Amino acid sequence: MRRFENQVAIITGAASGIGRACALRFAQEGANVACLDFDAAKNEATAIACRDLGVEVRAILVDVTRKHDLTNAVAQVMADWARIDVLVASAGIYSGAPLPTVSLQQWRRLIDINLTGVFLTNQAVAPILMQQKSGSIINISSMAGKTSWPASAEYSASKSGVIGLTRSVAMELAPFGVTCNAVCPGNTLTDMVRYVATRVAPDEGLSPEAWLQARANDCPMKRMAEPWEIAGVVAFLASSDSRYLTGQAIEVDGGMVMC
Ligand SMILES: NC(=O)c1ccc[n+]([C@@H]2O[C@H](COP(=O)([O-])OP(=O)(O)OC[C@H]3O[C@@H](n4cnc5c(N)ncnc54)[C@H](O)[C@@H]3O)[C@@H](O)[C@H]2O)c1
Repeated sequence: MRRFENQVAIITGAASGIGRACALRFAQEGANVACLDFDAAKNEATAIACRDLGVEVRAILVDVTRKHDLTNAVAQVMADWARIDVLVASAGIYSGAPLPTVSLQQWRRLIDINLTGVFLTNQAVAPILMQQKSGSIINISSMAGKTSWPASAEYSASKSGVIGLTRSVAMELAPFGVTCNAVCPGNTLTDMVRYVATRVAPDEGLSPEAWLQARANDCPMKRMAEPWEIAGVVAFLASSDSRYLTGQAIEVDGGMVMC
């Protein structure tokens, strides 16, 4: 399928994991792709892999907490391709600690990247989509946005915030024919989850591998998602098959959260 031929997709967090899988999926389906991330080397690697699929690609160094970086990136994309069809806001981090030990600095850093970063990214792209009267925004939230677990106050708050933000943006952009949805992945095998495993497993007396297996066993499907399985749903939300679907927060978690 090449549903996005001649379209332009901007992906934040494109250097790794879910963002990288989305960049590759849009490139596979014919879109020109702008890869945005603050990890220059890994972002360039994603860009090269996308270019190998025969589309035009830009790798742009962006810190999503900086409004200027995003304004410049969007200006560069418009100068090169004169349109934007899809925004995927995937850049994010995980930090978790027992509530009494979360420092204000840790709280602010995570909220800054996971929530303010999505706000700034949506804000930078929305005026162009509104003017075009077309386009899709897909914000990557988490199952932690709908449910929670101990020692993840700042992460859960940020991901619930992304769902609220998504709903408001969806209502504002709907009259312009622009959709905005959130995707809420369950545990997905990326660097983020592997990093959490190395940090948390020793506290539970487990090896990182055993911790990952235990989390996989928590899921009705008894496995974690692969990043491309999240990218497939993101691509659906950017496709013409989902034109009447907006303001939703879609669980892609193997049945972990049902509500
Ligand atoms: N992996 C999971 O199990 C899981 C589950 C639910 C939700 N998510 C969410 O999916 C998104 C992607 O996570 P992932 O698992 O692919 O993680 P990842 O660590 O593999 O990728 C995250 C990317 O975001 C980039 N990034 C972080 N801060 C940034 C900043 N300030 N500016 C620009 N880029 C920045 C990183 O450099 C990295 O390339 C995140 O929002 C995460 O919270 C992940």
